[in-house]
Amino acid sequence: MAMVASTVEALLSQERLIEPSAEFRERAVVNDPSIYEEASRDFEGFWAKIAEEFVTWFRKWDKVLEWTPPQPGTQPPWFKWFIGGRLNACYNCVDRHVRNWRRTKAAIIWEGEPGDERVLTYQDLHREVQKFANVLKSLGVKKGDRVTIYLPMIPELPIAMLACARIGAIHNVVFGGFSAEALRDRINDSQSKILITADGGWRRGNIVPLKRNSDEALKECPTIEKVIVVHRGVMDATHVPMVNGRDLWWHRLMEKAKLECPCEEMDSEDPLYILYTSGTTGKPKGQLHVTGGYLVGVAMTTKWVFDLKDEDIYWCTADIGWVTGHSYIVYGPLANGATVVMYEGAPDYPDRDRFWAIVEKYRVNIFYTSPTAIRTFMKWGEEYPRRHDLSSIRLLGTVGEPINPEAWLWYWEHIGEKRCPVVDTWWQTETGCIIISPLPGITTLKPGSATKPLPGFFAEVVDENGNPCSEGSQGYLILTKPWPSMSRTLWGDPERYIQTYWTRFPGFYFTGDASVKDKDGYFWLLGRVDDVINVSGHRISTMELESILVEHPAVAEAAVIGRKDEIKGQVPVGFVTIREGFTQNEQLVQELKEYVVKRIGPIARPADIFFTSELPKTRSGKIMRRLLRDIAEGRALGDTTTLTDPEVIQHLKQMYEERYGE
Ligand code: WTA
Repeated sequence: MAMVASTVEALLSQERLIEPSAEFRERAVVNDPSIYEEASRDFEGFWAKIAEEFVTWFRKWDKVLEWTPPQPGTQPPWFKWFIGGRLNACYNCVDRHVRNWRRTKAAIIWEGEPGDERVLTYQDLHREVQKFANVLKSLGVKKGDRVTIYLPMIPELPIAMLACARIGAIHNVVFGGFSAEALRDRINDSQSKILITADGGWRRGNIVPLKRNSDEALKECPTIEKVIVVHRGVMDATHVPMVNGRDLWWHRLMEKAKLECPCEEMDSEDPLYILYTSGTTGKPKGQLHVTGGYLVGVAMTTKWVFDLKDEDIYWCTADIGWVTGHSYIVYGPLANGATVVMYEGAPDYPDRDRFWAIVEKYRVNIFYTSPTAIRTFMKWGEEYPRRHDLSSIRLLGTVGEPINPEAWLWYWEHIGEKRCPVVDTWWQTETGCIIISPLPGITTLKPGSATKPLPGFFAEVVDENGNPCSEGSQGYLILTKPWPSMSRTLWGDPERYIQTYWTRFPGFYFTGDASVKDKDGYFWLLGRVDDVINVSGHRISTMELESILVEHPAVAEAAVIGRKDEIKGQVPVGFVTIREGFTQNEQLVQELKEYVVKRIGPIARPADIFFTSELPKTRSGKIMRRLLRDIAEGRALGDTTTLTDPEVIQHLKQMYEERYGE
């Protein structure tokens, strides 16, 4: 399992408690603790109330929930929320706000990495989204069609997503840091008709070659009919190779687009989007989120967890290519009519104070980022935040990986100046919205713990047999009741959805995470228990890396594990055996690392690759990854008696220690 017992004990022995200030509590959106009780007493009634409060329905639902546990051989839908309800996500995020004073409110305050700025009011957003929806329609996009979006962090990205939602097309956003091959696979699996991309984007002063990657990917994407290209301006438009009859400029299409486009009336259970996540096998999983429940979940949690008020300036630093950006840059905040800051580039460009410069410039009130970013800021030192006035911040959030208490306290002290609650939010692409998190006006905080499930959500820590673990003992995190924003199935692969989430503990959702509850019922998240590693908050499947490595002509066998890393949480480390006729040398190491980058993207680059004459295996031929992890993390080797050849592992250990000079 994820963590050794001594580490868990050290975590739980943290004595530090941090209470919300009386002032914060008093003004908080939610400050009455009876809400937890209310939600568990009548869970469907609770969600009915939330759905009415947070979402505008064209037709109200007839029933809150119907579900049957997903079982092998059965087909979706297994979960139906707000049955019979009709709504449109874009209407909720845009149209309803132009009908009141928010029409002139800033929806998106955008800053490009080079320092260019754009502000879109809700009215501006309404206009752009309608026009782009008409563009999509004019290209033949209909309800249920898939549209892949591969863009940098520029306003056209949320505009394209909302335009899809408006006409009932299913968007499939692919992170701009993914390679051509990763893009190709996601386009093909979703069978998208349209690709929306850009000439490129800016990252640390360099160009991210999105159009070039797209052209590469599209050599093998038979379903794509048209490519819409935003001119971000990283290169002169005349230098962008446009394929005749296939590629169209966004700005040209928009010049001619009609201004008005009605919202499609969607059923609660109609798909809103697909988003791919790494799984335990090589093939990425297309999580399918649907309109009604998803919107209810993200709208409610945005307002409650971030204590969002109308006058706030809210900034989530994630990329929209990940679920955090979908839920907490686009749908959640915009459904609440919030003002969202969006930044294109790197935190250290031109200098390491860029984030704090942005906070000061726009007077950001709510700031949401990842533990990796926080640990990086910690390493860079306090001088960077100290250069700026951060007094506008009143709430801090973190997501994506376990946060160690030191990083939590550093964030609280040096960014929040000990004034601001820190909400550590646990959730997943699958869950759609935050599940375990403090409510900042109620919860006593413990640095390093995501605290408790929010009202309306139910989690438990169980042992192998599904029995609740006693306090302080580590187990598997499961969710014991359905929730509105849950992923409904995997695109094109319902059987895998059942296998991955619903067979380990039948009737309950298995998260794949390890956790422990303390004496106060607080949850401490301890990382993954499967073959997924978390690199800077990005999920990467070790099986996927292994299958890529063995495709390289030099590699016979490969095992990949996640090694603990002070900044990134984990990094991938590969152990490979090579074929006859190839030489083990530094050049091959570099080549293999680049090979992985080419196939997935820079986030998956192995930190290290080791050559070995054999991989440690059990007599039944299973690679003992646990032992490889012991080696990579410098621990004494666990039980080696089941190995066919215990010498192999000793040899590896020696090699590892030589490289790291232990
Ligand atoms: C991990 C990101 C500890 C966890 C929203 C989960 C966390 C996976 C936290 C989902 C947290 C996310 N504390 N671990 N606050 N938040 N995780 O799908 O292992 O990219 O299963 O969703 O990240 O990653 P995903």
